[in-house]
Amino acid sequence: KPITGPPKKDKDFIKRMKETDKNVILFYGSQTGTAEDYASRLAKEGQQKFGLKTMTVDVEDCNMALLDKFPLDCVAFFLMATYGEGEPTDDAVDFWELITSESPEFSAGIPVEEKPLSSLRYVVFALGNKTYEHFNAVGRMIDNKLTEFGATRIGERGEGDDDGSLEEDFLGWKDDMWKAVCDAMQVDQSEAKDGDHVAAYKITELESCDSNKVFQGEYSGQALMVNGTRQTYDARNPYFSPIVATHELFNTNMTDRNCVHMEFDISGSGLEYETGDHVAVWPMNAEQDVERLLKILGIWEKRDTIVSVESIDPSTTKKYTFPVPATYATIFRYYLDIHAPISRQSIATLATFVSTEEGKARLTNLGSDKVSYRIEVSDAHLSLGELLESISPNGKPLDSIPLEFVVEILPRVQPRYYSISSSSKSTPKTIHVTASILSYNPKTTPQRKVYGLATNYILQVHRKLRNIQHPEISPSYLYSGPRNKYYDEGTNLIKMPLHVRHTNFKLPKNSKLPVVMVGPGTGVAPFRGFVIERALVKAQGEEVGETVLFFGCRKRDEDFLYQNEFTELFATLGESGKLITAFSREQSQKVYVQHKFHENGSHIWHLIHNLGGYFYVCGDAKNMARDVNTALGQLAQSCGGMDETSATNYVKDLRSKGRYQEDVWS
Ligand code: 2AM
Repeated sequence: KPITGPPKKDKDFIKRMKETDKNVILFYGSQTGTAEDYASRLAKEGQQKFGLKTMTVDVEDCNMALLDKFPLDCVAFFLMATYGEGEPTDDAVDFWELITSESPEFSAGIPVEEKPLSSLRYVVFALGNKTYEHFNAVGRMIDNKLTEFGATRIGERGEGDDDGSLEEDFLGWKDDMWKAVCDAMQVDQSEAKDGDHVAAYKITELESCDSNKVFQGEYSGQALMVNGTRQTYDARNPYFSPIVATHELFNTNMTDRNCVHMEFDISGSGLEYETGDHVAVWPMNAEQDVERLLKILGIWEKRDTIVSVESIDPSTTKKYTFPVPATYATIFRYYLDIHAPISRQSIATLATFVSTEEGKARLTNLGSDKVSYRIEVSDAHLSLGELLESISPNGKPLDSIPLEFVVEILPRVQPRYYSISSSSKSTPKTIHVTASILSYNPKTTPQRKVYGLATNYILQVHRKLRNIQHPEISPSYLYSGPRNKYYDEGTNLIKMPLHVRHTNFKLPKNSKLPVVMVGPGTGVAPFRGFVIERALVKAQGEEVGETVLFFGCRKRDEDFLYQNEFTELFATLGESGKLITAFSREQSQKVYVQHKFHENGSHIWHLIHNLGGYFYVCGDAKNMARDVNTALGQLAQSCGGMDETSATNYVKDLRSKGRYQEDVWS
């Protein structure tokens, strides 16, 4: 999250509500910005349609122990995302700890049995992904706890599933919710106003500006500080880390698939990581996408104009949502996610700004018809630039669309998380990333190719560093200009903004315990770190328990990641190391890691059950991790002699003890 305003905030949200005369507060716990975006949209709607006095705020910026002083005539919204294995988002950790503790201490010290939150009326919308075991665990738990502590929920709890359509779940929930809120707040709904779109931002073009104050793709106000003061790098202020090595991991004779190994030097930054952690990489948009959008919006000619963009929405406490002043080009290159499809609701509003009959008709249809929207926009991963081009066949700029509205509907660029593939014991100052490059032809529009934003950024930078010419997308990413943090002409170093996110995905403290790891495809990334670490400990003469890695890929000579390296590492581990491979496409029938798992069943069971070993899974959440979970349960039955229920409970118990850990994504 960029910060350009004053960082110190008063955490007394009740005082702030009173001072600014608000009667609805919308708290959000957001990792990738969706919950925050929903909070803003609800705040705006509540204000414009129903005359509510709304404000949005990150739970992180609030002292949530004050919930027991919540005014009776007000309402609090909770838009809470669940992250990873049923965990709160980073910004909601404190609130989560308060609300889930045995005896939460609210400000007046009233014990929970006496219902300290009885003055609180609230609305809750949970955001999550059904692929994960603990679907919406955070939103559900917060809802239950608030009720348990005496608060009253208004309307039904909303639940969004990102594996289906979060947006449709949200839109489907909100109308009934508003009815309930209006009833509770005695607002006459018949007076609801559906008026014209009200701008949430103000854009000012600056005639002149001190060039030292103009942002060039940095993420924090601190970045503009003169040398000298020591900086700390975190999610609000990523470190521009030099890339010190890069190579491709797949057989390069394959033209359609790429996987890049990239190494970042973090020495001198103060950043630290531990084996199993994640690194967040902040991507930038592809230059041709920036050009396309600026052209269709009619601002290509003035792309170097310096502007300031500030929020004028009375419900937000954030005046700046990305660093300004900056040029249009910088804003669209670094700060706005111009790559992701925009929401159906945004397209409906966009239609009102378009002057051509056909254009209006197409946008109105996409904005109202769920199926068309899904086929042509969301499943097709159609960007705003492509969408606008499709309604301007001659490429004429659509300059009737206000830029303020474009800034409102485009999400902010968010970092992408990768499982670190190095070991901090072996290379504490270098972070390795293993990125499989995403590009595909969407099923609904197979004539187009869609590129993953961050992985293609990584691929382009790799090609640039290696001087590889490639026709696919031109690597014009490395914008050169004064004070460029992304490219240092002097040293010829290319840098990427990143920060470290600590995880609980960790080797056992006692290295004598056996570990069993299952990581097909790029799921092997953290296990490379694990195996390096085990081999290092062993080489230092310490005792190391058995180390078993199940790895799967299509074909041995195509996509076997780190093949030579693993051969050496397992040679170091000797008898106590086993690399077991499953090549899915070398024979007519698919062979997957979990099949190999059964072949080695009794030994795996022995390591886990008799020797107290740890079990790890990394990679695809939707199919692989589930299948592996089932396979382990089957093992408990076939080798442990358990019935189905006991086997399920056994696996659950392993998880709760931290001996079954997952690092999975969908
Ligand atoms: P496939 O693509 O041939 O189906 C890494 O992606 C490897 O994981 C590939 O060999 C892939 O096989 C395999 N894979 C696909 N689905 C899987 C599943 N449900 N469980 C385990 N491995 C799977």
